[in-house]
Amino acid sequence: MIRLWVLVKRKILALLGLRDYLRIGILISGRGSNMEAIIKGCKEGKIYGKVVVVISDNPNAKGLEVARKYGVRAFYVYPGKYKAKFEEDREWEYVRILKKYAVDIVVMAGFMRIIGKPLLSSFPNRVINIHPSLLPKYPGLDTHRRVLEAGEEEHGCTVHFANEIVDGGKIIMQAKVRVSPDDTPEELAKRVLAKEHKILVKTLSLISEGKISYETLDSPIVYGPDDEIVT
Ligand code: GRF
Repeated sequence: MIRLWVLVKRKILALLGLRDYLRIGILISGRGSNMEAIIKGCKEGKIYGKVVVVISDNPNAKGLEVARKYGVRAFYVYPGKYKAKFEEDREWEYVRILKKYAVDIVVMAGFMRIIGKPLLSSFPNRVINIHPSLLPKYPGLDTHRRVLEAGEEEHGCTVHFANEIVDGGKIIMQAKVRVSPDDTPEELAKRVLAKEHKILVKTLSLISEGKISYETLDSPIVYGPDDEIVT
């Protein structure tokens, strides 16, 4: 029903030379601060879009309550018995719900599960992920501690299109932070998280305005520690 309505509305808007807003679906596993930044970004008009559905693989995810507080439909959906990946039929259930809400783009915002063919083939080049490191450095978990142990001078976060490789896929945007020798993983995580919120909103803002897409993006947009554009 929603899909049919969206289709009809978009046909009418297209006839009038207008574009519809971006329909965003968000996957979360926990607190949902990135998700909240996106919801706020839409409400404040920074993103020409709307978060139409949030799904969590964790029934206790705080982010589910946060989404509902904003009036966003939010569901826990059982991902299957594995810890890090989906059972295939459960991943198709995620696809079914995202399709039901006529989602244009899927954002993995602190979603701690590996996605596979169902999501990737249903939303080709339209699944994005936020990762707390300057990819390709430090894919995987526990990035802040690993960065400190390696004595890095800079760290940051990355928004990228998801593909079948964990934390792989074409990089859209990155933001850097300086690392000081007396940083703790917690302090570093806090500074990086603030940047995650910024680049996720910025990325979705550009996508919603039709300024970037998987096909048109040829090099990542990189912000330095003082928010200056580096490339
Ligand atoms: C973020 O740092 C994200 O990059 C990582 O997990 C954290 C989730 O935070 N994968 P939140 O749930 O968005 O608050």
